[in-house]
Amino acid sequence: MKFISYLPILVLLFVLITFNACKESTPTVDIVADVTPIFDLQKQVVSDSAMVVSAHPLATAAGVEILKKGGNAVDAMVAVHFALAVAYPRAGNLGGGGFMIYRDKKGLSNTLDFREMAPSTAHKNMYLDAEGEIIDSLSLTGHLASGVPGSVEGMYVAHQKYGKLPWKVLLQPAIDLAQNGIKVTAREVAAYNEHMWLFKKFNPHENAFVKEVAWKKGDRLVQKDLAEVLKRIQQEGRAGFYEGKTADLIVQEMQKTKGIISHQDLKNYTAVWRAPIQFDYKGYTIISMPPPSSGGICLAELFNMVEPYPMEKWGFQSAKSIHLFTEAARRAYADRTEHLGDIDFYPIPVETLSSQAYADMRMQTYVDSIATPSDRISHGNPYPKESEQTTHYCVVDAEGNAISVTTTINSNFGSKVIVEGGGFFMNNEMDDFSSKPGVPNQFGLLGNEANAIAPHKRMLSSMTPTIVEKDSAFFMAVGSPGGSKIITTVFQVVTNVIDYKLPLKDAVHQPRFHFQWLPDLLYHEEGAFSDALLTELKAMGHTPKSRDAIGQVEAILRLPNGQLEGVSDIRGDDDAQGL
Ligand code: GLY
Repeated sequence: MKFISYLPILVLLFVLITFNACKESTPTVDIVADVTPIFDLQKQVVSDSAMVVSAHPLATAAGVEILKKGGNAVDAMVAVHFALAVAYPRAGNLGGGGFMIYRDKKGLSNTLDFREMAPSTAHKNMYLDAEGEIIDSLSLTGHLASGVPGSVEGMYVAHQKYGKLPWKVLLQPAIDLAQNGIKVTAREVAAYNEHMWLFKKFNPHENAFVKEVAWKKGDRLVQKDLAEVLKRIQQEGRAGFYEGKTADLIVQEMQKTKGIISHQDLKNYTAVWRAPIQFDYKGYTIISMPPPSSGGICLAELFNMVEPYPMEKWGFQSAKSIHLFTEAARRAYADRTEHLGDIDFYPIPVETLSSQAYADMRMQTYVDSIATPSDRISHGNPYPKESEQTTHYCVVDAEGNAISVTTTINSNFGSKVIVEGGGFFMNNEMDDFSSKPGVPNQFGLLGNEANAIAPHKRMLSSMTPTIVEKDSAFFMAVGSPGGSKIITTVFQVVTNVIDYKLPLKDAVHQPRFHFQWLPDLLYHEEGAFSDALLTELKAMGHTPKSRDAIGQVEAILRLPNGQLEGVSDIRGDDDAQGL
C-alpha cells in the first residue's frame, strides 16, 4: 500500500530525472533534492476563447493579464516577451532578436523579422587569426559575439501595426517582475550555478546573477537595473533602448573589450516585415518564416519530400518513417548549408526550394530502407542553371488572432555579457554566421558564402515559428528552441498531429529525434528508440546516437468543437494558461 501511495511522486521523480538528465545545463541533483514545484505548471489546458503558452509561468501569466484587460494577441505577445526577458533570462531577452508569425482573425498572415544584424564594422574574417583559423570562442562569448539586438524594435513595430492597448500598459507586468523579484525554479538555479564562472569572467561589475553563494531553488531574483531599462522603454518606446541612456550603457559595455556595436548601429536597427513561406501539406496550409530564417524553407522541403509516402500507415516512430524523415532531412540541411542566408544580401531561390517539383527531384536518389551516406549527398541545384537556448511562445486571442514567436540570444545567456547598469544579457548571435566555410558552428551547422559575415547582414537562423491552417481557419500554432533541431522538432510535432493523429499533448511530450545531414548521425532523446528499432535503423545504414532533450515546444490547437487546447513542454518550466 505504501508503495502505491508514493507512486505518483516516484513517477514524477522519474520524469524529472529523465528529462533533466537530458538538459545539458541542468544537473539532476538539484531536482532530485527537492521536487516541490515553485509554480503550479499547467502542461495541458483547454479553453473556450484564448490561450497563452510560454517557457515560464510568469510570462504566460503576463500575457493572460493583458488579454483580460482587453488586449489582443499582439498586446499579449509584447507582455510575454518582456516578461520572459525578466523571468527566463537564459533565452528571453532585450539583447537578442527573433521572428514573429501573425495570422489575424480574417486569415491574413504576416511575418516580422527582428533578427539581430551584424554591426557596421563587422567583416568576413573577424573571427579568424592571422593563419586564417577560427579563434576559439570569439563568436560565442564576450563582447565581440553580439549582433545588434532586434527584440525591442520588433515588439515596438508589431505593436504599432497591430496592437490595441497602450504600449505603456504592456510593459508593466515585466517591470513589476524585475522590480519586485521572482522566485527561481530548480531548473533556473541549475542554469545560473552552471554558468556562474562565465558570468564572473565577463562581468566584473555588480549584477543580479553573481552571488557569493550558490543559487538555491526559491531564491528571489531582483533585477533593479533591468527594471530601469524597461521603464525607459515603457516611457520612450524604441528610443528607450536604441538611444539615450540605454544605448550609452550598451556602447560603454562594448568598449570595455572588443565589442563593435556603436550608437549608430543601435539607432539604425530596423525590423522587417516579410511575406511568409506558405505551402500545402495534405490539405493543411503551413505558414512559416522566410530567410534570414532557414526554418520555413527547410520545413517546406521536409514536408514536400515526405508527402508522397504513407507515413500514417507506416506508424509513429516506425523504422520506415524515421528512415524517410532522415533522408529528407539529409537533403534539406545540405541545401541549407549551401543556399541559405540573409535574402537582403544573397539571392535565394525561395520559390524553387519550397516547391514540390524541387522536393521530388531531390528525392530521386531516395532508396527505401537504405541510408544514403551524407558524403554522397550534396546540396541540390535550385537554379535554372544552414546552447541552443532560444524560446518560443504562442498566443491566440478571443477574436481569433494568433501569433507564434521564437526569440533568442542564441546560447544559454547569450554572450554571457550583462550590460553594466542595464542588467540584461547580450546575444552571441554572430556565431550563427559562417565564420569560415567548412567549419561548423555550435550547432554543428556548416555554411558557405550565402551566410558569410558582412556589415548590417542578418545571420542565418533555424528559428521556425509556425502557424497551420485547415479549411482556411486557424488550426495550430507551434514552435520550439533547439538551434538546428528547431526545424525537425516543429516538423515532428506537426506530423505527429496530422499524420499520426496523436493528441496534441502526446505530439509535444513524446520523445523526439533529429538529423541534419552532417554530422551523419541520427540523434534521438535518451530512451526514445527501443533496442529492436535501433537494430532496424542500424541495418538500414543509419548511425543512431542518444543525446539530451531535443526542443522545448509550445503549441496551441483549435479542437473540432472550436475550443483551444494549449500544451507546454515537459522538458522545461513551460506553462499553458487559457481564459
Ligand atoms: N540562434 C539559433 C538560431 O537562430 O537558429
